[in-house]
Amino acid sequence: MARPVANARRLRGSVAPPGDKSISHRAAILNALASGPALVENFQRGADCLATLRCLRALGVQWRWQEDGALAIEGVGLEGLREPSAPLDCRNSGTTMRLLAGVLAGQPFFSVLTGDSSLRSRPMGRIAGPLRSMGAEVWGRQGGELAPLAIRGRRPLRALEHRLPVASAQVKSCLLLAGLYADGETVVHEPGPSRDHTERMLAAMGAHLERRDGWVRLHPPAGGLRPLSLRVPGDFSAAAFWLVAAAVHPDAEVRIQGVGINPTRTGLLDALRLMGADIALQEERVWGGEPVADILVRSSRLRGIEVRGEMVPRLIDEVPLLALAACFAEGETVIRDAAELRVKESDRLRATARQLRRLGADIEEMDDGLRVRGGIRLRGCRVNSYGDHRLAMTLAVAGLLASGQTVVGSPDAVSVSYPDFWTDLQRLATG
Ligand code: S3P
Repeated sequence: MARPVANARRLRGSVAPPGDKSISHRAAILNALASGPALVENFQRGADCLATLRCLRALGVQWRWQEDGALAIEGVGLEGLREPSAPLDCRNSGTTMRLLAGVLAGQPFFSVLTGDSSLRSRPMGRIAGPLRSMGAEVWGRQGGELAPLAIRGRRPLRALEHRLPVASAQVKSCLLLAGLYADGETVVHEPGPSRDHTERMLAAMGAHLERRDGWVRLHPPAGGLRPLSLRVPGDFSAAAFWLVAAAVHPDAEVRIQGVGINPTRTGLLDALRLMGADIALQEERVWGGEPVADILVRSSRLRGIEVRGEMVPRLIDEVPLLALAACFAEGETVIRDAAELRVKESDRLRATARQLRRLGADIEEMDDGLRVRGGIRLRGCRVNSYGDHRLAMTLAVAGLLASGQTVVGSPDAVSVSYPDFWTDLQRLATG
């Protein structure tokens, strides 16, 4: 299957992106472990978050969709999960697998986590190692490097102080969740600031956390977690497609409503502004302990920049889009320190470079990043998204900007994180 995208003469209108994927996973998992019921509005219904919900049901957690669309979830308490009778299928979702592994490490039962072929090729040693140091038994292919993972938990776990070699919110969150079951304080050091939704939500649920630049310390909550009802902010990583489309398009004005602007997520916004983009934040407010705003973006003239170091974890999922924006900027853009992109849903450095090059971009793949020379017109052609949701959407945006028609392969991949993506694209292109 493939989907054609024509060059858009103009981009106009407003969109409300789906609920944030990272916050939705956490709202489900943490509320499942809390004592009592919670309501989650604007929960994201992409395939990844649905995988988390199905795994939680298999662990004995009850949830249902209310008529108004909110998720009603009944927390079973830290000690209320039950042994699943079959392997837990995380499908394409690294967040599901890594966060649930942390929870399962603290359970006195046996469980197996598996996923699709992409997830089964992603590195899991980074969680298996520290979870074993805490006392859990973790097995997997290649010594625990690859899923399926089999876990026999232990309670209490041994408290751990761990230094992450690479900034990763999934690994940090895995260890904090295991830390809920530890016999003392869990401390995680990070080389750079990855997204902090787990820390914010744990604190809002009554856990005692201390945070400084570079580390976080969790004291296991003696009285358990309080349920947290919340409205999930719109996903910045979904808004990002329209941010880039509108900033780069010569005739665009787009409003993106109710977007989470947690600073650990908005590296792309900062990068685009440094490149000269016309972006305004309006109606700033707070939902569930997370900052939210409407974002107004207009056609802009961009210039190339260099992005590296601490900025990279703050735009880790937006690197393919930044590379696309760079194609339309004057001069050269260099992205470094982004080797982590090679172990996402696809090797996103290679896939981005290859597919944008097919469209005519002047882009070079480096070990840990990309170099793009801007100012060359993209021409529509057939492109491959490797079944990776973010690649499919980046290439669709490229199609709006390129001349002629672009045909995007595996367009259904968008359902992983943005089920209404194609409808929203159509609306803005004809608005
Ligand atoms: C996520 C963390 C990021 C990101 C992923 C979602 C999360 O991965 O790429 O899409 O929800 O914790 P890292 O573990 O590299 O930070």
